[in-house]
Amino acid sequence: MTDMFILVLLITAVLLLVVSLLLLKVIKVYVKETLNPTPVATAEERRLWHLASENAEVTTTKKSSVWSKLMGLRPIDEEKDIVMEHKFDGISELDNPTPAWFMVLFYGTIIFAIVYLLSYHVFGLGNLQEEEYSIELRQAEDAKIAFLQKPGNSSNKINESNVEQSKDAALLSAGAALFKTACAPCHGEHAEGLVGPNLTDEFWLHGGTVNDIFKTIKYGVPDKGMIAWEKTLKPKQIADLTSYIMSLKGSNPAGAKAPQGVKQN
Ligand code: HEC
Repeated sequence: MTDMFILVLLITAVLLLVVSLLLLKVIKVYVKETLNPTPVATAEERRLWHLASENAEVTTTKKSSVWSKLMGLRPIDEEKDIVMEHKFDGISELDNPTPAWFMVLFYGTIIFAIVYLLSYHVFGLGNLQEEEYSIELRQAEDAKIAFLQKPGNSSNKINESNVEQSKDAALLSAGAALFKTACAPCHGEHAEGLVGPNLTDEFWLHGGTVNDIFKTIKYGVPDKGMIAWEKTLKPKQIADLTSYIMSLKGSNPAGAKAPQGVKQN
């Protein structure tokens, strides 16, 4: 949809450009003819003129290189045709017109800007950057939810939207063992808190529900020093850790770190 729109916009811009260039040419010819009309030539005059222009072609095609054509430069012996009337200290000015391609670019950008301004800011035909950004964010969020809900993929079986707290003793001790090796260095042997916060109280920085805790462990809080564990631990292990942490609530270990965050029931 937006691709189509951009294409249409581009085509309109190019068409406008061509039309305005044609108009410019017509106006030029009109002005020239009103100021200095071309007399109707006799047959003899026409023959002479043809001869002269053929000769001129022979001489000029030899001289003008691609470069001078591109830059709109005229050969030195044509200078007398483009010299302007004023002179200062013996220095005279040449009337070298700007090359056509430059004028095309120049007017092209102006026309494009007008078309762009009208369509985006006046008629609101397309989305501005900010809207496009939020639309893409929404799409990414939808895609993520769809991915997490996709069945069959073993790594997706347990995720932050379907994890449940378990009171199973085997699972809790698996979680406890993992906690001792992976988490104790920062959260303390009994989750009382060291570098990381106390995980046994009712105060949470990132939410205390089973989904919140799972999510914090999975994605971490990289700027605050909490590692994202999704690459090292399996979803099942993260779920065990989550259940274990939830089972510690109110255990009041010795040397507990002062509460951080918001109280949750
Ligand atoms: C390198 C140190 C470090 C390690 C290792 C670590 N954490 Fe953390 N953790 C932190 C820090 C620091 C925070 C606080 C983040 C913040 O301030 O937002 C935190 C926060 C948390 C939180 C959120 C607490 C709240 O109040 O919301 C949970 C849950 C958590 N960690 C669980 C774990 C688990 C489970 C492990 C082991 C798999 C672990 N952490 C390993 C440093 C660590």
